[in-house]
Amino acid sequence: MKAAFAAALLAALATQVSAVAEWGQCGGLNYAGSNTCDAGLSCVYSNDWYSQCLKSTSSAATSSTKTSSTSSTSSTRASSTSSTRVSSSTSSTKTTSGSAQASSAVPTASGNPYTGKSVWNSEYYASEVYAAAALVTDTALKAKISKVASIPTFTWFDTMAKVADLPGYLQAAGSSILQIVVYDLPNRDCHANASNGELTYANNGAALYQQYIDGITAAIKASSGSTVVAVIEPDSLANLVTNLSDSRCSSVQDQYKASVVYALKTLATAGVYMYIDAGHAGWLGWPANISPAATLFAQIYTSAGSSPFIRGLATNVANYNALTAASPDPITSGNSNYDETHYINALAPMLASSGWNAQFIVDLGRSGKQNIRTAWGNWCNIKGAGFGLHPTTNTGNSYIDAIVWVKPGGECDGTSNTSAVRYDSMCGGVDAKVPAPEAGQWFQDYFLDLVNNADPAL
Ligand code: BGC
Repeated sequence: MKAAFAAALLAALATQVSAVAEWGQCGGLNYAGSNTCDAGLSCVYSNDWYSQCLKSTSSAATSSTKTSSTSSTSSTRASSTSSTRVSSSTSSTKTTSGSAQASSAVPTASGNPYTGKSVWNSEYYASEVYAAAALVTDTALKAKISKVASIPTFTWFDTMAKVADLPGYLQAAGSSILQIVVYDLPNRDCHANASNGELTYANNGAALYQQYIDGITAAIKASSGSTVVAVIEPDSLANLVTNLSDSRCSSVQDQYKASVVYALKTLATAGVYMYIDAGHAGWLGWPANISPAATLFAQIYTSAGSSPFIRGLATNVANYNALTAASPDPITSGNSNYDETHYINALAPMLASSGWNAQFIVDLGRSGKQNIRTAWGNWCNIKGAGFGLHPTTNTGNSYIDAIVWVKPGGECDGTSNTSAVRYDSMCGGVDAKVPAPEAGQWFQDYFLDLVNNADPAL
């Protein structure tokens, strides 16, 4: 299926091709390719960013304009049950259910969620990559870019509004794994500025965050059969290990913990496999930090009810560390945990001795090139970075469930505009590529660097 999908992506990128093959994109905001599907396929709306060619009952080739594909949302979704990807067993529940009570069965966890499953390819990210490809004329580069669009990358829910897109993603993912990042904690990113979010505890953030979590949970419960893997709140708990001298972090530490525990407990009822963000080797791997980090993570796991769906921890999210460095980068001097393998191998036994046999996933999306920083703490739009090892369950480490791509490469880490409210000096530092747009916005030049510096090459 992946090969067919990749072929469809290439077809969509080629200027001469007028019809799109099964699974290929045929509409969506910023999409510049063909709106016409091959014979026997219909252009089915999935969300505002993505329509896809799926098998239809009609034998004639169909064409869908952007306008018509977005305006026929519910009827198209409801009638798409004949396709192999959008199974009939899921769509009736999805289209009629809207509350967390829709499914009363308590799901059972079954070990590594990635084992034996395909992973859905984020259509939101694919649409960004298509838009990037449309700006490029070099055909060799276009082909490399198209490969990025076919590598499964997490979809971030960094605002409450984005939860509305979740039912469409669940439906499109079908029985494949949907990978999401839960990222709307109040007072988010407390020790930095670049990714400050929309919620604050001072403005009803605790209750709004519960609504946000409830919305995600309800959507997943309403979709029978979906497997969802979630990274929980990048940078939140790690800040409580190292940054309590910053009052922006210490003042919210109890609320952070309560919100994260609420998220874990609630999402577990929907059978979401969760990996709590655990920073990376250069943050919590230091001798002074790793033991307090293990204590905090184990406490949170216990407070959240020790559900088997709280599968473990995610490391290196949006960072640049190697899984296994050929030799220690000089910037890691003083830390024997100089790569993610050393960090995980040191952290896992500490957690186990606190009662949590945690497993790990590692984000290697931007770790292709090493020894590119002047200081290990630098994290913003690092110059010279390249896409890294591709997602796989073949990790060579029994603690690691999967290598994944969490940070969508090309989405910015933070603005370099010194007068912006969310300006963080890290994003104007010596290692940072400038000029850079706001966090989460598309950063085309940075994306092209990631493509050109990819290791393994694309
Ligand atoms: C941004 C988010 C974005 C995420 C993934 C974060 O740094 O603050 O808005 O969704 O990166 O790109």
